[in-house]
Amino acid sequence: MNKAAIERAKEHFGLLLEKQMERVAKIKAAPDWIDYSKLEPIIIGVVGGDGIGPYIAKEAQRVLEFLLQDEVKRGKVEFRVIEGLTIENRAACMKPIPDDVLEEIKKCHVILKGPTTTPRKGDPWPNIESANVAMRKELDLFANVRPVRVPQQGIDWIFFRENTEDVYALGPYGIEVDEDIAIDFRLISTPGADRICRLAFEHARKTGKTRVTCVTKANVVKTTDGRFLENFYRIAKEYPEIQADDWYIDIMTAKLIDEKRRREFQVFVLPNLYGDILTDEAAEFQGGVGTAGSANIGKQYAMFEAIHGSAPRMVQEGRAIYADPSSMIRAAAMLLNHIGFAYKGKKLEMALDICGQYEKKLVVTGRPNGATGAQFADYLLETIQDPNLETRWQSYIKG
Ligand code: IPM
Ligand code: MG
Repeated sequence: MNKAAIERAKEHFGLLLEKQMERVAKIKAAPDWIDYSKLEPIIIGVVGGDGIGPYIAKEAQRVLEFLLQDEVKRGKVEFRVIEGLTIENRAACMKPIPDDVLEEIKKCHVILKGPTTTPRKGDPWPNIESANVAMRKELDLFANVRPVRVPQQGIDWIFFRENTEDVYALGPYGIEVDEDIAIDFRLISTPGADRICRLAFEHARKTGKTRVTCVTKANVVKTTDGRFLENFYRIAKEYPEIQADDWYIDIMTAKLIDEKRRREFQVFVLPNLYGDILTDEAAEFQGGVGTAGSANIGKQYAMFEAIHGSAPRMVQEGRAIYADPSSMIRAAAMLLNHIGFAYKGKKLEMALDICGQYEKKLVVTGRPNGATGAQFADYLLETIQDPNLETRWQSYIKG
């Protein structure tokens, strides 16, 4: 037995625990929700990211600037473009977010972020932590909120994925114990589980949903999933009008393709990794991850992003202008909603449904045989300005 390896591992583990206890203490002491209605200006940072990121972020920004033109004039909203969150810069400083970029990001209130390249073992880039994951941790964006709607099939789901804990918390800090054994760590904290479950129930209450479903694997992953589930049912007691139930992740992935049962689900709340996987599956029913936006919500900051990757190959092949900006623009709609412009957000969502799913006068294919991202954004802007937007949308939804 390699006693020295065990001692090294114990020491490493001890240091991790110290850091995590500090983090959890910070959660407990964190200030309450920021009030955007009182901010002047609300600063929206636009971070392009890698690959097609800057191209699609530019289109999303153009759409937002159009919808918020009066607010910008009045000084209620300000846009800032933040450069430098590129894989080249991250590799040069060996950090998932360069310090100067992080500093600029922290001066904003909400961020619209393009996809960033996430290196993994064996890639040409150093194996640094994902910029997404780092930003979620740095800004304490504990809720990853992903809606999935397919009205024709009766699907109207919203996922509350915990966003800072689980295997993601310690993902880069596993231990290569010796040549035979590698260990990673999974962490669930009570304050962490508490705040995500509460947010899911609050959402249900505000939007008149009647059921919240928790997804774990608490029959096997007893300690951490057990803790998550225990908190879920404790919080559920504060919302007696809402039905609370729980499922295991394996059968849940199966039930999502059960056409009869799946319509019954409304709000999901789940730990990080299960949420990562289940939301990709769910997005597929709506037309794939390219059609979904993702909101990363914290009490002080929020970040909105596309859920697909940076598609470096499209840039290498000169096709970046043909990249589909839809998911970035969906994220922009969520941003509008989050900072208090729900009506503008709703209009943008209706225009996205009409242009991308129903009418399809212009189709983005990712290649020169389709529209460019800029042409698609023009089509959206034209659609948003239609005084009959809502009736047009209704007629498609009803089919
Ligand atoms: C997502 C992505 C990220 C995640 C990756 C890029 C690290 O898959 O936002 O779902 O796993 O959270
Ligand atoms: Mg994912």
